Amino acid sequence: MEFDEQKLRAYYANPPEDISLESIDLGRIPRHVTLIMDGNGRWAQAQGRPRHEGHIAGVDALREAVTTSVRLGIDVLSAYAFSTENWKRPQEEVNLLMHLFATTLLKELPLFFQENVRLRFLGDINSLPENTREVFEEGLAKTASHTGMEFALAVNYGSRAELVRAARLVAKDVAAGSLALDEVDESAIAERLYTHGLPDPELLIRTSGELRLSNYLLWQLAYTEFYVVNKHWPDFSRWDMLRAICAYQRRDRRFGGVSAS
Ligand code: IPE
Ligand code: IPE
Ligand code: MG
Repeated sequence: MEFDEQKLRAYYANPPEDISLESIDLGRIPRHVTLIMDGNGRWAQAQGRPRHEGHIAGVDALREAVTTSVRLGIDVLSAYAFSTENWKRPQEEVNLLMHLFATTLLKELPLFFQENVRLRFLGDINSLPENTREVFEEGLAKTASHTGMEFALAVNYGSRAELVRAARLVAKDVAAGSLALDEVDESAIAERLYTHGLPDPELLIRTSGELRLSNYLLWQLAYTEFYVVNKHWPDFSRWDMLRAICAYQRRDRRFGGVSAS
């Protein structure tokens, strides 16, 4: 993706001691970075505040991650906001999150216009509360013509549910005779996932130190590099994104083969 180097340099002015724009190779920025935004509740609780204040603070970190990704010329930024298992949380927290998704999206639409960002959702958004679903559909319609970075927000997303859905779609097409059994290959599955058309993420970042996927992108992360940050999501900054990319650029990605060097 094209990026404006002048804007990028201004955005990353005044670096901390351990990292700067010079630490990374701008010619090898990952195309797709994905985030597991974890630790909002712990961030709030550590300050003696209620969990929902962590979710509200998490919005600021996500806005910064979107801008950061645009500045760096990343093609696709995706982020896990609500899993199929998160419905198990107290009703009050679920309601707050659904409300926050809707109000935030409306409030942030100008940013999507300013930065030419196209929105999409990963997950079953049809079964969300009506108001949230309507706002999501409005966001999709209003940004559909944008040609810059794609921002994919995973809401009511679960990877197992996604794979079950893909299996059903395949079975339906086979039964209807529009797909032959020997045409059922990796691309036939990939085309039926919520992420259809997106490149697989090269880099996954999870905050709050947890070493698990929590039912996120099981298929798409087959060869993704993992980077775990020991801070909570609301504290994730543009510098952490640089640190993650710097670590990613030092990895030896073999894809089952042998090292190039
Ligand atoms: C991530 O933070 C946001 C959502 C899952 C909605 P958490 O709410 O999981 O915060 P912790 O992990 O309990 O601290
Ligand atoms: C994963 O975080 C889901 C999101 C970040 C939206 P959780 O906080 O739900 O994951 P677990 O329960 O710690 O595995
Ligand atoms: Mg969590």
